[in-house]
Amino acid sequence: MIAKDFMIGAATAAHQVEGNNIHSDYWLQENMPHTSFLEPSGIACDHYNRYKEDIKMMADAGLNAYRFSIEWARIEPEEGLFDENEINHYEDVINTCLSYNVKPIVTLMHFTSPAWLIKKGGWTSVSTVEYFRRYVSYVIDKLGSKLEFVCTINEANMGLQLAAISKRFKLMAEQVAKKADGTVQVGMNFEKMMENMKYAAMENAQIFGTPDPKIFVSSRDLNDDEIVIKAHLAAREEIKKLYPNIKVGLTLSLHDLQDVGGGEKYIKEAWNEEFSHYLPYIKDDDFLGVQNYTRTLYGENGQLPAPEGAELTQMNYEYYPEALGNVIRKVNEEYKGVIIVTENGVAIDDDERRVNFINKAIEGIKKCLNEGIKINGYFYWSLMDNFEWQKGYSQKFGLVAVDRTSMERTAKKSLYYLGSYNK
Ligand code: BGC
Repeated sequence: MIAKDFMIGAATAAHQVEGNNIHSDYWLQENMPHTSFLEPSGIACDHYNRYKEDIKMMADAGLNAYRFSIEWARIEPEEGLFDENEINHYEDVINTCLSYNVKPIVTLMHFTSPAWLIKKGGWTSVSTVEYFRRYVSYVIDKLGSKLEFVCTINEANMGLQLAAISKRFKLMAEQVAKKADGTVQVGMNFEKMMENMKYAAMENAQIFGTPDPKIFVSSRDLNDDEIVIKAHLAAREEIKKLYPNIKVGLTLSLHDLQDVGGGEKYIKEAWNEEFSHYLPYIKDDDFLGVQNYTRTLYGENGQLPAPEGAELTQMNYEYYPEALGNVIRKVNEEYKGVIIVTENGVAIDDDERRVNFINKAIEGIKKCLNEGIKINGYFYWSLMDNFEWQKGYSQKFGLVAVDRTSMERTAKKSLYYLGSYNK
């Protein structure tokens, strides 16, 4: 046991595990002829039907908490039409958790939105704030009495991070396009990619009424970031109105930004964008969800690739579990509230390396606790191998393997290893 009441759990997101999320923006984009998704989500892990088995497996292994998301596109498949069967479904998921003494931690928005919301302007439209408020109010009114912790928005900073990545990507594409026509040395076919993008834009226009629909996971600037912040604040207000005792927070994707020499100014800028500028809005939250997967190096010319010879995960991130403790410590310099590690994990086939990753990550947490930092829980990403967005089912993050044909679950050693921290 790490500390009294410390949560040791696993996390999932509705769209990545449930299956058949047909009213969502992602579903439509995955199924476009020129989609950038490697494959569509389809029935995902059929968690929508198998959640009882999945929750039991977690409980049997010793996990005492489960972080999952409620799917807005199921609850409100059409504007203003709320589906009671779906809220009953989530009530049952929560009840199942409670019956196994697994604490349910709910996320209200984990990347996917109802398609109708995107047709109305999506995450750059101010109206989204009030739509989100109404959805949150409906969900919390029905389920709030059974909840202790609620995450409003998963990785509120994702759009800003994507903007930074897109800028680098665009630059690279432009450089390559100047030198080569078609296929380039690295095996990229930029010409084909550009052509695909053109068709994808046309398909998006047909579906959403715009070639560039603003889904939650779209690049955004600081102006549009305000909409996300306002949505969080509106959700918090609704939750507190209905159930003042529910602990409310958002989650942020945070990197361990390290300087190899001369990179301080880039790090300062990146950390401000990734974290510090949210402080005024989250200071009255009850907790902050920290999500970390790796470190990022900076030098005098900006961001650097992983060091030569570094072990890379399937996501091509550097395998670096020490990042978690570093990030928590850095967050704590400016944020003195409670931290929950709402995601941390590794996509890798070798489960021994996953066990080692968890071990190192939790060592980091223990050190931080000893230094007096308030940390309330650790949620490994993810409970099972699931739909890793555009990368389809190629990434093995899970504590549990899922046979893609039979849907049969097989617990990996790492599931029991994680559960052993509760004993
Ligand atoms: C997201 C998850 C995702 C995970 C691994 C996080 O950014 O919240 O949905 O699957 O990282 O890439």
